[in-house]
Amino acid sequence: MNSKSQKIRILTDAEAISRAAAETIVAHVSVYLQTRDVYSIALSGGSTPRRLYELLADDAKLQEQIPWDRVHIFWGDERHVPPGHPDSNYRMAYDALLSKVPIPSTNIHRIKAEDSDADKAAADYEQEIRRFFKINAGQMPRFNCVLLGMGPDGHTASLFPGTSALEETKRLAVANWIEKFQSYRITLIRPLFNNADRILFLVGGIEKADTLKAVLEDDSKTTRFPVQLIQPTHGEVTWFLDQPAAGRLSQRPPA
Ligand code: 6PG
Repeated sequence: MNSKSQKIRILTDAEAISRAAAETIVAHVSVYLQTRDVYSIALSGGSTPRRLYELLADDAKLQEQIPWDRVHIFWGDERHVPPGHPDSNYRMAYDALLSKVPIPSTNIHRIKAEDSDADKAAADYEQEIRRFFKINAGQMPRFNCVLLGMGPDGHTASLFPGTSALEETKRLAVANWIEKFQSYRITLIRPLFNNADRILFLVGGIEKADTLKAVLEDDSKTTRFPVQLIQPTHGEVTWFLDQPAAGRLSQRPPA
């Protein structure tokens, strides 16, 4: 990954990476909204970002700095389940954050994954994104911030190794069949992620250390993991890593 646009922050534990990411988001939102009207952010799912979402809601100093009526929330991916399902990325963010802050429901753009037709859910989400960003076919939206995680297999969002969504460059959102889950995931595509102003990776846990070393220290141009496809076209990437996840890195930048 091009180091100019990449920062790696290694912090003690999950609480520390969550707080550092929360402060980074608050600072980015505050600066951006000094001169623009609305801010767009795509949330990630999984377990790691839950604490970040809780901090943005429960820490009054953080919550009060965000003008929630001017922030629009999207998701980078969703499981093919209804919004009330325990596996729903929407539900996790709703319980941890959105139900606790003064954000208008019209600012919450969730993936309608309750639709039994995953392709239709993806196509509808593409239309929702195009409407919000007022863009036509062939144009790529520019999110102000995208949150991403990484699995031990090097997947990010629902861009899993060997899956069809890795090749998609036109449709903004696709239904991606994940063999190991015997289920579809609805995911945004890598060119969209790469067009964002800020990409924040939150990665914790020793089970990801080997993959992180390969991803962050592999100078060969070969792409071994989907997460290596996240190469910002103009924006900046920041990796928030906890000590166990960063345990195998030889270069250890300051926190
Ligand atoms: C999802 C995510 C996925 C997640 C990684 C890491 O829907 O699960 O978007 O890409 O970020 O699987 O998950 P953990 O944070 O639970 O380790």
